[in-house]
Amino acid sequence: MEVWERKFGSRRPQSPEWLPCAVRLTGALTQSIRDRYEDAHDEGRPLIGGHRGNPAQHPENTLRSFSSAIAAGCDLIECDVHLSSDSRLIVIHDHTLDRTTNGRGLVRDHTAAELRRFDAGQGEHLPLLQEVIELALGKVGLVIEIKQIPIQYPGLEEKLVAMLRQLGAVQECAVVSFYHPSLKILRAMEPKLQLGLLEGARPIEPARMMREAGADVYSPHWGAMDPPLVKEVHAAGGAVAVWPVDDETAVAWCRLCKPDSIFTNRPVEIGAALRATAAS
Ligand code: G3P
Ligand code: CA
Repeated sequence: MEVWERKFGSRRPQSPEWLPCAVRLTGALTQSIRDRYEDAHDEGRPLIGGHRGNPAQHPENTLRSFSSAIAAGCDLIECDVHLSSDSRLIVIHDHTLDRTTNGRGLVRDHTAAELRRFDAGQGEHLPLLQEVIELALGKVGLVIEIKQIPIQYPGLEEKLVAMLRQLGAVQECAVVSFYHPSLKILRAMEPKLQLGLLEGARPIEPARMMREAGADVYSPHWGAMDPPLVKEVHAAGGAVAVWPVDDETAVAWCRLCKPDSIFTNRPVEIGAALRATAAS
């Protein structure tokens, strides 16, 4: 607890159990990602994140999907970012267009204007990152995953930090990546930006990995989390963010391990299940 307080704040949780959210900011007010984690920690509940928005009900990573996740009461939304051939930050999960759009080939081989002409489902187009930031600001925290592996986008980190600064969104957003060298680059560029280290396996020393990358958050697949891992990351002053928690088994494991944030592709159903747990 003492290390948590040094890193995330001086307040102690009111209850060890997850409790329903009592306060939600709306309108022009903004709340930093760090404050969102601290407030949820005080309330003894996890933050709920819409993974790619609300893809269970709308085309993933589209403005419609993100708006739906916000309407469903998510605290955070998560999106995936690439660079177009003309160096614009564009939101799509895969390095290729084929699965989620009517386009073909690599994202990096198209200009932003070309990419936005493709149908991303139900007439939606691929959003620019700036549009997603503007949608999220004042409503939810935005978690931006940069897709720097296996294809790398030189200069993506600089472009991202410049955009966050220009929009006044550095502390309202977090950046996460499976490509840990990017986290080190970002930490050197912007000390105030929250960074999350993505990991699919269960390393021997997860907290050391997190610290070495300069990250504040350790973000594993839910099945690569266990209670000692959560304890170790908390003792190192970090938070644990898991994904994708989409069924009862994953929810049950989260109830046992108590991560600090939970990202789901089904924010309506899983959000309700987590709130029901917290209220009981
Ligand atoms: O937030 C982490 C998670 O999104 C990583 O997996 O493949 O769904 O982007 P992926
Ligand atoms: Ca992602």
